[in-house]
Formats: sequence, structure tokens, C-alpha cells
Amino acid sequence: MSWLSNALSSSIGRKIVMSITGLFLCSFLVIHLIGNLQLFKNDGGVAFNIYSHFMGTNPVIRTLELVLVAGFVFHIYEAIVLSGKNRAARGKQRYAVDHIEQNSPWASRNMGLLGTVILVFLIIHLYNFFWRARFGDLDKDINSNDDLYTLVVTSFHQWWYVLLYVLAQAALCYHLIHGFKSAFQTLGLTHRKYTPFLTYFGYAFAIIVCAGFAAMPLYFFFTK
Ligand code: HEM
Repeated sequence: MSWLSNALSSSIGRKIVMSITGLFLCSFLVIHLIGNLQLFKNDGGVAFNIYSHFMGTNPVIRTLELVLVAGFVFHIYEAIVLSGKNRAARGKQRYAVDHIEQNSPWASRNMGLLGTVILVFLIIHLYNFFWRARFGDLDKDINSNDDLYTLVVTSFHQWWYVLLYVLAQAALCYHLIHGFKSAFQTLGLTHRKYTPFLTYFGYAFAIIVCAGFAAMPLYFFFTK
């Protein structure tokens, strides 16, 4: 098995792990966004609380949650190792002529910064919603489900919370635009005919997903 650990700890092996986990996390974002659209229903949160109850108690979903945690852990770990290696390599070429700013887009040079903003958002987000949903003591709604809807609405009444969410979605959008394209390149899935389509698809995906998430705090802040 040492060939496998050697392959996975090479730079290309690490990039492949990042690409696969990144695309997997994209699929989570789509499901999370579609589920959270229940928040827009004008029913006092009944549908959203039923959905959250299902997600929190269904054994298949609970098992998939472990896969999700593994996806996040590998994605973040490989990102830290790879950016450390890149920094060390750049340090060695400090005196070489290096027009990195002109040769690569802003998002690709700042994936670490964007990823850090998303990680800070994620820690606050998971503590406030996920942790309190699983281990907190929430009030019950008319169906005796935990009233997560009221927690979401009251959180989104605070301006700093809304600002954090909107800024995090901007960072996520840039991160996804670059990450999506880069994942397909790393996996060797490039084609003269299809790559331009995948690039546009990546843009559309990032903008639709992040605008959808950002719309939630803005909607509750300005209308409820
Ligand atoms: C503004 C839009 C968002 C809202 C209203 C929202 C709401 C929630 C809620 C209520 C939970 C707890 C669900 C439960 O345990 O039953 C949750 C969990 C979670 N959220 Fe979000 N979320 C949003 C955006 C995001 C974004 C952008 C990410 C990732 C970058 C994210 C990642 C997660 C993760 C990893 C979990 C734990 C896994 C899960 O319960 O499915 N969320 N979110």
C-alpha cells in the first residue's frame, strides 16, 4: 500500500484529492441550497422545520454527514499542505523574474485567503445552526419539531450576521469560480470543445449558488 500513500502525498496526488473533495462539496452546496429554499415558504417555518427534522434524524443522512466531514477535512488539509509547499518553492525563486500577478487571475492567487474567509464563516455557521440544532435546547413548533426556523430568522435580524454571510458568499463565489475550472483541469478533463462550456457553467454555478445563499439573510433582514 506504500505506492498509494506515495501517490497521495505527491503534489499531483494532493491536487487530485482536492479536486474530488471540492466537487463533492459542490454537490453538498446544491442540496443544502435546495433544502434551505423552504425558508422562503410563507408558513411560519413549518416546512423548514420538517425538513431539518428529517435531515437531523434520518440514518442515511446522518451517515452521509460523516462523509461530508471527511470531505471538508481532506479538502482543507490538502490545501494547507499544498500552499505551504508552493510558498516554500516561491521563496527559493525570490530573485528570479516572476510576473505571477500578470500571469494568473486574482482568485487563483488568493485561494488560501478565500478559503480562510469561508472557514471562519463555516465555524460560526456550524456553531450557531448545526451545533444548536443537534445539541442545543430549541423551542418546539406546532408539530413538536425543533424550531430551527426561528433561530435562523432571529440570527438574520442582526446586521453584522447578515454582513458576515454576504461577504462569505462573495468569497465562496470567487473560490468556486476558480476551483471548479481548476478541478476539471487537474483531473485531465479538458477538451477543446467542452472546456469553454465548463468554464461558463462554473461561473453560472458559482453565481447562482452564492446569490441563492446570500438572498436568505438579506430577505429576512429587510422583510421580516
Ligand atoms: C445563508 C444561507 C444558509 C443557511 C440559512 C444555512 C442554514 C443551515 C442550518 C439551519 C443548518 C443546520 C441544519 C440541521 O442540522 O438540521 C446548516 C448546516 C450546515 N451548513 Fe448551512 N446554511 C447556509 C449556508 C451555508 C453555506 C454557504 C455553507 C458552506 C459553505 C454551509 C454549510 C453547512 C454545513 C457543512 C452544515 C452541517 C451539515 C448539515 O447539517 O447539513 N451552509 N446550515
